[in-house]
Amino acid sequence: MAEKLDFISSSIRTFQDFPKKGVPFKDIFPILKDPKALATVIDLFEEYVRSSYVQVDLIVGLDARGFLFGPLLAQRLGIGFIPIRKKGKLPGPTLSVVYSLEYATAEAEMQQDAVTAGQKVLVIDDLLATGGTLWAACELLRQQKAEVLGCLVVVELKDLGGSDKLKPTTVHSLIQY
Ligand code: PRP
Ligand code: HPA
Repeated sequence: MAEKLDFISSSIRTFQDFPKKGVPFKDIFPILKDPKALATVIDLFEEYVRSSYVQVDLIVGLDARGFLFGPLLAQRLGIGFIPIRKKGKLPGPTLSVVYSLEYATAEAEMQQDAVTAGQKVLVIDDLLATGGTLWAACELLRQQKAEVLGCLVVVELKDLGGSDKLKPTTVHSLIQY
C-alpha cells in the first residue's frame, strides 16, 4: 500500500505560480502517461470502495478531470458512471448550482434524470482544493435525493480546508499535500 502510494506520488508534478502567482499547481497528468500508475490509482480506489461500502449504485465524476478516473473505477466496480459538468454542456432538463473555486466562480450542472431518489453514489475528482467543486456536486445530488456515500480524490491540498467544507460528507484522498 505505502509502495503504491509512493509510486503515484512520484508521478505528480508541482508547477509554481500556475495559473496565477502564489499557486503551487499539482499536475496529475503524468499519472495518465504511465499505464502502471493509472492502474495503481484505480486499484487503490477499488480496494477502498470494496472494503468501505456494501452497495454503491453509481460513480459521479466531475468535469473535467474527474472524467479521467471515474469511468475506469465504475467499470472495475461493474456499475455506471454519470457526469456533473460545467454549465451549458449537458442537453435536456438540468439542474445547476453556483460555487466558488480557488481562483474563480463556476456553475455545476447535472441532468435531471441522471440519478433517482435513494441511489447510493460516490463522487470522484482528481483533486480537492477549497472543496467548492465537490460541495456543488454533493448539493446537486442531494437535490435529486441521491444518497452521497462519500467523495474520492487522487490529491488533497490539506491547507485549503476542503474536507471541512464538505463535512459531514467524507473525502478519501490517496495523496495529501
Ligand atoms: C479543478 C480540479 C477540481 C477543482 C478543485 O478543476 O480538477 O475539480 O478544481 O478545486 P476546489 O476544491 O477548490 O473546488 P477546474 O475547475 O480547474 O476544472 P478542470 O478540471 O476543467 O480543469
Ligand atoms: N492542481 C490541479 N487542479 C487544481 C489545483 C491544483 O493544484 N488547485 C485547484 N485545482
